[in-house]
Amino acid sequence: MLKKEFLWGGAVAANQCEGAYDEDGKGLSIMDIITAGSQDAPRQVTLEIKDDCYYPNHEAIDFYHHYQEDIELFAQMGFKCFRTSIAWTRIFPHGDEDEPNEAGLAFYDRLFKALKAKGIEPVVTISHYEMPLDLVKKYGGWSNRRLIDFYTKYASVLFHRYKGIVRYWMTFNEINSTVKITMIAGVLIKPGENQKQIAYQALHHQFVASSKAVQLAHEIDPDNKVGCMVMTTVGYPQTSHPLDALAAQEYLRDGTLFFCDVQCRGYYPGYFQNYHIELDITDDDLKNLKAGTVDYIGFSYYSSQVVSHLDGGEKVKGNIVDGLKNPYLQASEWGWQIDPDGLKYLMRILYERYQLPLFIVENGLGYDDQINENGEIIDDYRIDYMRAHIQAMKDIVEQEGIDLMGYTAWGPIDIVSAGTGEMKKRYGMIYVDKDNEGHGSLKRMKKKSFDWYRQVILSNGEIL
Ligand code: BG6
Repeated sequence: MLKKEFLWGGAVAANQCEGAYDEDGKGLSIMDIITAGSQDAPRQVTLEIKDDCYYPNHEAIDFYHHYQEDIELFAQMGFKCFRTSIAWTRIFPHGDEDEPNEAGLAFYDRLFKALKAKGIEPVVTISHYEMPLDLVKKYGGWSNRRLIDFYTKYASVLFHRYKGIVRYWMTFNEINSTVKITMIAGVLIKPGENQKQIAYQALHHQFVASSKAVQLAHEIDPDNKVGCMVMTTVGYPQTSHPLDALAAQEYLRDGTLFFCDVQCRGYYPGYFQNYHIELDITDDDLKNLKAGTVDYIGFSYYSSQVVSHLDGGEKVKGNIVDGLKNPYLQASEWGWQIDPDGLKYLMRILYERYQLPLFIVENGLGYDDQINENGEIIDDYRIDYMRAHIQAMKDIVEQEGIDLMGYTAWGPIDIVSAGTGEMKKRYGMIYVDKDNEGHGSLKRMKKKSFDWYRQVILSNGEIL
């Protein structure tokens, strides 16, 4: 059995659902100047808002004005928790002000109050891909050490304001994405620059900022639990060739575990020297990393890949990282290979390595749902995906005693895809009437998976 207080729920990011991108004093974030894209056409960063471009995050699903109705639906599904992020630019519109924006703080007061009224615990990501654009333009984003202070101040405002209301925090969403897509960390690499060097320096600043936030959170309220959040990259060796096994081991270690190593253990692992990067690390940084290790490991898991030590092979897409095709697995329409066993594989490694509580804070299937002639969405494919992953998670918790805090399905209500900017890449148990071009009534509608997930939560995972 899963524990009684298991945190079932759903997860979103402010920038992918809230909309209201310029309301109540909100400043522009990096996500406000990113256009829509598709599988084949990457999203573009325009640096300012252009009249001839479409920016899907500007309105998103207008959660900012619909949150009460949406929370009512989450409550009907029996959510115990709801993971969202705070839009940094609602609190510090430019990122470097002295005083926070009261209207932004007040919005989250209302949001958390509405959740609490329904018995839903807020789980908050402090930064989920949406840093203030001015910090990008004026300071070069996280490549600049000054960002540590701006972030720490922002985090401190949140810990004080939501003391006793929010207990579960995560410092940076998928912190490992910083080295893959530096734009996420507000770092726009110029031609000729050493991307790897700059990216890892930006990451180092985030590690330090995260460790300082963990310490602050504990000082301000000892009941606070602060996690890291990593995107997981499971890769199986393509053959029994020992070099494939080593390549797969490094794929997981360098893509996922390195980021946990620093945040859970509080220091850079020995193998970091093989990255051949000279970082600017102060003594104070080292002290902070040590003193600010996380309380739990939050992670996203969607798919797995295959890894070879040789070049070539049929490539497949995944969540930010790519890999090779696995002939034993099916893939989603977006090419993400579906692998519930990979979740077991990963949870074992994470738990055995760190012995810290785990929290699955993202998992789900992106699908272009269609409304049938009866006006319903029969998303059995989503139910199958979730059932298999929840079963895998349950098995490993029950059979191996892994300490798992909860499971939050990604995008329980349809939101804008982070990767492609599409609306049609839907994860929700709740459908939102809006298309890729921004047309639609924004009306919410339950899919078949809505009742299914309600039953899962009601039975604490016993009825799948
Ligand atoms: C994770 C992110 O990478 O995956 C989310 O934390 C994102 O922001 C999710 O939405 C699913 O990816 P996508 O590209 O399908 O939206």
